[in-house]
Amino acid sequence: MEKTTVLNLLNTNDLNREVVLKGWVKTFRANRFISINDGSIIHNIQCVLDFENTEEAILKKIHTGAAVCIKGLLVESQGKGQKVEIQIKEISILGESNPEEFPIQPKKHSFEFLRENAHLRVRTSTFSAIMRIRSKLSFAVHQYFQDNGFYYVNTPIITGTDAEGAGEMFRVSALDPNNSPKLESGKIDHSQDFFGKETHLTVSGQLEAETYAMALGKVYTFGPTFRAENSNTSRHLAEFWMIEPEVAFNDLHDNMDLSEDFIKYTLGYILKNCKDDLAFLEERLLQEDKSKPAIERADMTLTDKLKFVIDNNFVRLSYTEAFDILRNSKPNKKKKFKYVLDEWGADLQSEHERYLVEKHFKSPVILFDYPAKIKAFYMRLNDDGKTVRAMDVLFPGIGEIVGGSQREERLDVLQEKIKALDIDEKELWWYLDTRKFGTAVHSGFGLGFERLVLFATGMSNIRDVIPFPRTPQNAEF
Ligand code: 4AD
Ligand code: MG
Repeated sequence: MEKTTVLNLLNTNDLNREVVLKGWVKTFRANRFISINDGSIIHNIQCVLDFENTEEAILKKIHTGAAVCIKGLLVESQGKGQKVEIQIKEISILGESNPEEFPIQPKKHSFEFLRENAHLRVRTSTFSAIMRIRSKLSFAVHQYFQDNGFYYVNTPIITGTDAEGAGEMFRVSALDPNNSPKLESGKIDHSQDFFGKETHLTVSGQLEAETYAMALGKVYTFGPTFRAENSNTSRHLAEFWMIEPEVAFNDLHDNMDLSEDFIKYTLGYILKNCKDDLAFLEERLLQEDKSKPAIERADMTLTDKLKFVIDNNFVRLSYTEAFDILRNSKPNKKKKFKYVLDEWGADLQSEHERYLVEKHFKSPVILFDYPAKIKAFYMRLNDDGKTVRAMDVLFPGIGEIVGGSQREERLDVLQEKIKALDIDEKELWWYLDTRKFGTAVHSGFGLGFERLVLFATGMSNIRDVIPFPRTPQNAEF
């Protein structure tokens, strides 16, 4: 007898044979029906117990959460709601679960409660669906790039440079915090630290990826990324996964095309390959909507939303055009925005981005040519001298999902930028080398993987789409 999974059993036509299944009890009702799930698929399989002929010692241990091994006959189901079921011949308890203590009961739990039990929440249908979709999505990311001639590069996690120049980094040190060597100035002497210099967790693999694009042509990174910003929003994590393609000879328009094509591919992949999990999450959202007032209800189902993004072109417009729309918008004039827009050059907040996407265009939007002042040093300066070839992809419910740019490939312009921003040129000697030896137009972007998972699953808090979220004041598990 071969070991099998619920996924196999629910999809087979080979019935009336003995099977062995290991999994966890979801429910046990009427002393007869045990629902088993093993994580292979959202659905449970119904197993029918011969109550009279089962030892009492075992019966007492069949509770939600217990791990069991079932041997029995796979047959066509007599009852409604399932095609097949297992008639149990033998059941053994592999691991007990005390019903008084197991937090995941077969009832609705709040997401807050489940976050506090992040080690067990994946045993719920909702979180198992999310995490299976997350897994498939990350496979789709690799599939897309590998099919399109990109090479996967692993950029360092510990870094000596601040790629975004925002200074929101976690320090990495092996010095004794209570007794660290000091310079005469009183500052910590990092020359005595593990790496002989001050180091941090990376905020982006872009600068290193650029050096690889200048040799391998098309590359991408997909790895953990860290930001020490104190943002307690539903879209920020202190540790998240970023995907960063970088392509030699691509200009900003090629870069926009790539981001749009890439996002559409990954969402299309899960529409095709995660049907059951998506259907479950869609139904969850429909139920949740029923308890909301009519105007707050979603106007599209989850699958319709995904299809809409795949089937329609993203609207593209410059920052300046978007700024005019926003400045003249009702919420701006009536001072309904928290940040009222007045002067060209202001950074756009998530409320503005979402207004453009959700109210004005009702479509994903790509904004480009941002004011140089609000963007990072490496973006290519336009001829107007005040905007850079930046692009942000904005999504409904999320705001910014992608940030990218055409890079400044001219050594002199880049050096001037670095100087103006008071960045130490010596720190970036290797980055500047790429502009000295065979420099070329090139572009890339970063996509926050969790923001993509948020959109794909219809969830509303980023903490619910990563197994163990890291946020301010929270590093449990
Ligand atoms: O816009 P960002 O900061 O761009 C960069 O880091 C560039 N170096 C990328 C590049 O051009 N290669 O970040 C890129 C994306 C954002 O659009 C967002 O989706 C995500 O990363 N992101 C976060 N996701 C979750 N939590 C955070 N704290 C995030 N910060 C950025
Ligand atoms: Mg950004």
